[in-house]
Amino acid sequence: MKRVVLAYSGGLDTSVCIPLLRERYGYDEVIAVTVDVGQPEDDIREAVERGKKLSDVHKLIDAQEEFVRDYIFPLIKANGNYEGYVLGTAIARPLIAKKVVEVAREEHADAVAHGCTGKGNDQLRFEAVFRTTDLDVVAPIREMSLTREEERRYAAEHGITFETEKRWSMDENIWSRSIEGSELEDPSFVPPEEIYQWTVSPDKAPEAAEIIKLEFEHGIPVSVNGTRVDGVSLIKKLNEVGGKHGVGRTDIIEDRVLGFKSREIYEHPAATILLEAHRGLEQLILTRNELRFKEFVDRTWSELVYQGLIMDPLFESLNAFVDKTQERVNGTVDMKLEKGAARVVGRASPNALYSKDVSFDVKQEQRGAEGFSVYHGFQSRIFWKQR
Ligand code: ARG
Repeated sequence: MKRVVLAYSGGLDTSVCIPLLRERYGYDEVIAVTVDVGQPEDDIREAVERGKKLSDVHKLIDAQEEFVRDYIFPLIKANGNYEGYVLGTAIARPLIAKKVVEVAREEHADAVAHGCTGKGNDQLRFEAVFRTTDLDVVAPIREMSLTREEERRYAAEHGITFETEKRWSMDENIWSRSIEGSELEDPSFVPPEEIYQWTVSPDKAPEAAEIIKLEFEHGIPVSVNGTRVDGVSLIKKLNEVGGKHGVGRTDIIEDRVLGFKSREIYEHPAATILLEAHRGLEQLILTRNELRFKEFVDRTWSELVYQGLIMDPLFESLNAFVDKTQERVNGTVDMKLEKGAARVVGRASPNALYSKDVSFDVKQEQRGAEGFSVYHGFQSRIFWKQR
């Protein structure tokens, strides 16, 4: 009796994997696991229905809270960003993989599987976690090098049907929505407005700006406009408010782990608001030295997440540093949402390293700075004399 656990989204790739795992790979039992990290409710419902029909056992795991607490919050603390991408898909994959492994252990499965192709980053992220176990790893779509067209034909032969044919490939969770594929692959193609679902076009956003007050404790957002909310609700709320103002659209050329450039489009209102606000607060609280050093830590952190290498011991060390700095990141930030922009317009913190003693308005002995000026730029002065 051979048993495999598949990371199942309900889409074409992973649906085709189910009969393939039986027919081509000889598994007697296919357990399909859908992990809810905040996909649209319709997608979850479809995944459950189709999963139940196609697989031997379908499991739905609600991981939204864990996703926010253990993955998104650390990302905010580390100002997570890779080439302008807020890492939504990247940060979710290791958690999905972890849940699949947990089910595989409970069910004494022999193998775990994913439906990624051999071209993207997701295969690497799933397998970096899968391969920390001694379970077999199966990737049918990649191994058989199936094209979308071949997949569709195979699906139809197996009675796997989709109501509407999706024009774009999408991946959504609570942190971001990614849209790619078909004409979008051409970097010069100007996308139609309809690809956006979370945000209105900035030029259609309300004329009136809106200011929201966010409170952070130890680098983590805890309240909106004075009301404390749990992380999942907070992010959902900011996606809604930010989306209304057209905040959080990204259209970039991204360097994939494998080395090719790809055109990527994202929506992420809450991420934009929270990352801007968090950075604004850090500027007030951390020392210049901390900020400079942390920029490098944050970038390295983001690269590891992008590559799916959160099992690297370096990741734990970086988090230890980040957490130490975030002990002091407490306070409030006023964010102005206006026509596609989210800007910090006010910040306050009991831990601010800001002093009014040096204000232009304070009458103060200033000659002390003269000694500083004499030596400031000393080396360049010598250089210019020589030249
Ligand atoms: N380029 C992004 C990443 O590597 C988004 C990928 C979206 N994945 C997808 N299967 N549509 O994280």
